[in-house]
Amino acid sequence: MRPIRLRDAGDWSRIRLRDQEHLEPWEPTGPGPWRDRNSYWSWPAQWTALRSLARRGQCLPYTITVDGEFAGQITIGNVIRASLRSAWVGYWVSSPVVKGGVATAAVALVVDHAFTSAGLHRIEATVRPENTPSIKVLTKAGFRQEGLFKRYLDVAGDWRDHYCYAMTVEEAGPGLVARLVAAGRAEYL
Ligand code: ACO
Repeated sequence: MRPIRLRDAGDWSRIRLRDQEHLEPWEPTGPGPWRDRNSYWSWPAQWTALRSLARRGQCLPYTITVDGEFAGQITIGNVIRASLRSAWVGYWVSSPVVKGGVATAAVALVVDHAFTSAGLHRIEATVRPENTPSIKVLTKAGFRQEGLFKRYLDVAGDWRDHYCYAMTVEEAGPGLVARLVAAGRAEYL
């Protein structure tokens, strides 16, 4: 993983336009058609917004790469400090790399970072009950299901129920990456 870059525009747009069917059912409803929201020229505004939130310490926005190639995004968002020290995590990966453990590895890396360097105490993730791959990612990473939020988020054109998954730093033990390696699901290079 690495910080998002302005020059991700080309890869970001190409992959998201190609992967509309793979991504749209799980993403918040946006204004206008998918092709406009994911055009090359819509990335600079998104990059600027994410970067400005990151500079204020409210967000940790990353690009996921596989063998050096752009392969998705993972974001720690809505970072609240003080006595809550909480945030959410959200992610997507490009269709050619799915089912290879990429999202699970990205979640493990980013959550370990959030619980150590970023000093957070709790990370939560909300996911549609129909999104089996994402539920598997969270379960493999060690997240625990806390409940069901009814008609929680406007996704793909309607108010959708979402499960809430969460983890606190106490539950992360030696770290999510270390646990994946111990379970034989990942290895250090
Ligand atoms: N039915 C059952 N299991 C499935 C299916 C399916 N249709 N598709 C994938 N899986 C399994 C995989 O086999 C794998 O499990 P395994 O390791 O036990 O074999 C697991 O689901 C996926 O694990 P990863 O390989 O680590 O995840 P991947 O890199 O494929 O990414 C992701 C998963 C991010 C959900 C991807 O499919 C994607 O980008 N989907 C579209 C966007 C999206 O849904 N984002 C998540 C929104 S919710 C949130 O951000 C908290």
